[in-house]
Amino acid sequence: MTARPEVEEEILDPARVSEFIAHEGAPSLSPAVALAHKPILYLERVTVSFDGFKALNNLSLYLDDGELRCIIGPNGAGKSTMMDVITGKTRPDSGSVYFGQTLNLLKLREAEIAQAGIGRKFQQPTVFQGHTVFENLELALQTNKGVWHSLRTRLTGEQRDRIDEVLELIGLEDQRGALAGRLSHGQKQWLEIGMLLAQNPQVLLVDEPVAGMTVQEVESTAQLLNSLAGRHTVVVVEHDMEFVRAIARHVTVLHEGRVLAEGRMEAIQNDPRVIEVYLGE
Ligand SMILES: Nc1ncnc2c1ncn2[C@@H]1O[C@H](COP(=O)(O)OP(=O)(O)OP(=O)(O)O)[C@@H](O)[C@H]1O
Ligand SMILES: [Mg+2]
Repeated sequence: MTARPEVEEEILDPARVSEFIAHEGAPSLSPAVALAHKPILYLERVTVSFDGFKALNNLSLYLDDGELRCIIGPNGAGKSTMMDVITGKTRPDSGSVYFGQTLNLLKLREAEIAQAGIGRKFQQPTVFQGHTVFENLELALQTNKGVWHSLRTRLTGEQRDRIDEVLELIGLEDQRGALAGRLSHGQKQWLEIGMLLAQNPQVLLVDEPVAGMTVQEVESTAQLLNSLAGRHTVVVVEHDMEFVRAIARHVTVLHEGRVLAEGRMEAIQNDPRVIEVYLGE
């Protein structure tokens, strides 16, 4: 295992997060890139090795504020590893990762990165099966307290409004009183997206959201993610090309830990290099 750079020991409180914003520069982003794109999140020359194998190999990626970006590429291309790096689960050997141009994510722990406004949805839904849809969203609003405490604390009017808003976004208003465990697979995925949305993240990372969904559910998920763009920056990793076509504006193709191609879906689909390593399979 390769040694990882040292990570701050104690959990940062929000005040310390803003301290990082104030004092950490973003030295590696060239002024040209900064001006042309207004990136909200960027990785530059990021390398991650697992026992000598480079899961990410000098990867550079820039995400604009409010965009909906699809990341595609063959198995093992490094897509999930890229999300692991952004969320602090995996530390790169080298490179830089900045949020909002000035917050150095490599200095923050997982919980702090989430708190700073980057939410991540894993492939398997992890909702509280024995609680209602509403309660799940309620719990998501109060992440740092225990379940027992959270469900006994009164919600503020603002929090109630946010939950109603999220219920509408994820299309589960009619299921608000239903036990999460009784939802369909697709509905559980939406609930989990809703739990992230309840915290109003600036960036939402979604890894393979439509795996195992019915055609109808895939369509609804495309609508949901489309509706989030603009208000949130959404990064979607997915193998279902039908779905990617339904939501894609800007697509990045990863291959062997780096960007193979990037651009509009129409161009990407016709790129011989992309067809060779991925779409032609
Ligand atoms: N913790 C780990 N230890 C060792 N190797 C790992 C680890 N995590 C990922 N890898 C390896 O790194 C490479 C990239 O994996 P990653 O999961 O990022 O690919 P992916 O693009 O998400 O693939 P998929 O489409 O199959 O989900 C793979 O070869 C994988 O086996
Ligand atoms: Mg993956």
